[in-house]
Amino acid sequence: MTVLLPRRRLLGAAASGATLMLNPPSASAATPGAARFVIGDNDFLLDGQPLQIRCGEMHFARVPREYWRHRLQAVKAMGMNTVCAYLFWNFHEWREGQYRWEGQRDAVEFCNQAQAEGLWVILRPGPYACAEWEMGGLPWWLLNKHAGSDFLRSRDDAFVQPARRWLKEVGRVLGGQQVSRGGPILMVQVENEYGFLSDDKDYMRVMRQAVLDGGFDVPLFQCNPTNAVGKTHIPELFTVANFGSDPATGFKALDALQKGPKMCGEYYSGWFDTWGSPHKRGDNARAIQDIDAMLNANGSFSLYMAHGGTTFGLWGGCDRPFRPDTTSYDYDAPIGEAGWIGEKFRTYRECLARHLKPGEVLPEPPARLPVMAIPPFTLTETAPVFANLPTKAIAAESPKNIEQYDISRGLVAYRATLPAGPAGRLEAANARDLAWVFVDGRLAGTMDTRYRRFGVDLPARKREAVVEILLYTIARVNFGMEVHDRKGLQGPAMLKTKAGAQEINGWEIRAIDFGADGDLPPLRWQPRRAPGPAFWRGSFDAATTADTFLDMSAWGQGIVWVNGRCLGRYWSIGPTQTMYLPGPWLQAGRNEVVVLDLTGPRANRIEGRTTPVLDQLQPDRDLVRPPSTARPRLAGLKPVHAGQFASGSATQDVRFAEVAHGRQLCIEVVDTFDGKPQAAIAELALLDAQGRALNQTAWTIAYASSEEARKEDGGALNAINGQATDYWHTAYSGNARPAGPPRLIIDLGAAVDIAGLRYTPRQGPDGVTGRIKQYRVYVGDRLVTGD
Ligand code: GLA
Repeated sequence: MTVLLPRRRLLGAAASGATLMLNPPSASAATPGAARFVIGDNDFLLDGQPLQIRCGEMHFARVPREYWRHRLQAVKAMGMNTVCAYLFWNFHEWREGQYRWEGQRDAVEFCNQAQAEGLWVILRPGPYACAEWEMGGLPWWLLNKHAGSDFLRSRDDAFVQPARRWLKEVGRVLGGQQVSRGGPILMVQVENEYGFLSDDKDYMRVMRQAVLDGGFDVPLFQCNPTNAVGKTHIPELFTVANFGSDPATGFKALDALQKGPKMCGEYYSGWFDTWGSPHKRGDNARAIQDIDAMLNANGSFSLYMAHGGTTFGLWGGCDRPFRPDTTSYDYDAPIGEAGWIGEKFRTYRECLARHLKPGEVLPEPPARLPVMAIPPFTLTETAPVFANLPTKAIAAESPKNIEQYDISRGLVAYRATLPAGPAGRLEAANARDLAWVFVDGRLAGTMDTRYRRFGVDLPARKREAVVEILLYTIARVNFGMEVHDRKGLQGPAMLKTKAGAQEINGWEIRAIDFGADGDLPPLRWQPRRAPGPAFWRGSFDAATTADTFLDMSAWGQGIVWVNGRCLGRYWSIGPTQTMYLPGPWLQAGRNEVVVLDLTGPRANRIEGRTTPVLDQLQPDRDLVRPPSTARPRLAGLKPVHAGQFASGSATQDVRFAEVAHGRQLCIEVVDTFDGKPQAAIAELALLDAQGRALNQTAWTIAYASSEEARKEDGGALNAINGQATDYWHTAYSGNARPAGPPRLIIDLGAAVDIAGLRYTPRQGPDGVTGRIKQYRVYVGDRLVTGD
């Protein structure tokens, strides 16, 4: 059923001093079908009538274009009146100055379809988005504009100029879609959660101006997590709060800032998955309660995600410090990855049905799309990676990051000659993201950014040997300062032996750049298996076309293409084991499948399943990693600080009596507010003498007393990934019994001055498990033995 949007004429808008600032005077309703949307003192007003926004987020880039309509109908049937649309800058400008808006990138068509389904649109054009998308949506070529690692999302010209051009382009393409001109766009978001990164209000002013200069005349707004709403608030930009629990605190924080309706800019229905960590699920009952409460309080909200979809192609992002996101972006959202709805959807719909405007009727949800199984088929042809590299090489004495060679992402092979000599160790300064090191064709070891392991043991050599390093870029970090994520081997690469260290020079670099859309180079196929990293090819016949889920659990790690279209990355460590393959991308008859596998499959077979597998970890399929032997070494050490945190969920800054200096910091939990032995930390930042958070780019976890890994993702990295929504949680499932006090030891990469810490407790209602009461802090250069 299609419901057309009501189009009322301008009735005159309420205007206080504050609303005048927020609502540009140029907004007019002179165009036929146009309406006037403004932010009033207590409500959003559409042609003078209060509008409570019930928004559902879906990213059109993550949904096959052929299914946009289907998913929009589901969003509407769930009870939403608005859909949120992020634009990912790099999706539209992968090469500088070359904008693309066709096919899957057709944002105008998405707006048209939303409008036809009776949905308003909230546009979020960036320039930064986050969203578990490659580099948070920023284009990689920005990294060539400046040598620094703090200019992105700052007022530096190297960022502002390209960002301004992008926002101008967005205005050119989507300006006509504003409600003031008869389109569905109600509001436009400026930047994204900037308070997580900085408190530079002038940056927000510059970005706001850039959106205005793009030609937008509807109200503009910014969003921040509850804890940070005040940090970048400026009176000329409306603020909304993002949270996944405790709407009362979120709305109170907004009340303290501004007059106006209260809105949650992102309420989390679930959460995203990263490779190697347990599948995440949302707490449905709590979500429904919170949404009910927000609507009862006359608030508005946007559900992140209403429908998550799939991060097709190579667009997956990476959590910081370095945890790449899975290809499935199911998000445990009420509308599943393949558009399926069930119990969860029903509860949302029931809740939202209680909050409709008089006369508003919910359409029935669209029918479920058919699925099909594909019987197992074998991929028998291979094209080994090393035999299929381009013949032309880049010569380098010492390798630089790949962006400097104009390589955007993909496979990069480095080759050099090693002198004869004793066994030693090859150490690169940095090798992002994963690399396999071969000496005369034999695998010597791997480099792995997840553990900042950039060294490999080399065997003794009687004569000169060839070292080849095959590097694979997974994704650029999409969050925090770490978005300055330059890839590749970043020299110098040293050969270390007992006798000393010498630099390895004279590199030849060859790359397969997969570009924006996962373009495959011409490949020379052979009709047999190949050991080592290779492309594999096979096909299956389909009588009809329907959705299916390719089971990749027997493969290692790599990328899948179907009929030339890049489906995305797989990694059998899980938790995602299947790849969603939409029916419209298949054809009746023969379909060709190409797989890049870097570690080699256990069986070179694939089948299509009728249900997804999103929650199976296979840790034994991971790259070999030396087991951790780290144990705390605190005996005899004096804490640099001992204290007690306040109860509640607020972030707290603590100053040490004296500035401490060291490379590692340990927080030791003495007791917790609920008296249980388990401890949790949502975020731990460290402060310099001026009270500013220290850069976390080089941080790793040196030791965690335990981590819950079965019932939920309580991984220790959650405490230093900048996201307050997830947390480190000590183990509690099964027979887990804490041996000694909960302790977390962070390695900072280098010795630094530490003047204090910033602790964010696990979020959620009062009484939630894990909130720390008394604690001690130790600082030293080496607080662990082993490792
Ligand atoms: C933040 C961002 C979103 C997304 C979520 C996590 O709130 O604004 O883009 O990254 O976190 O899914």
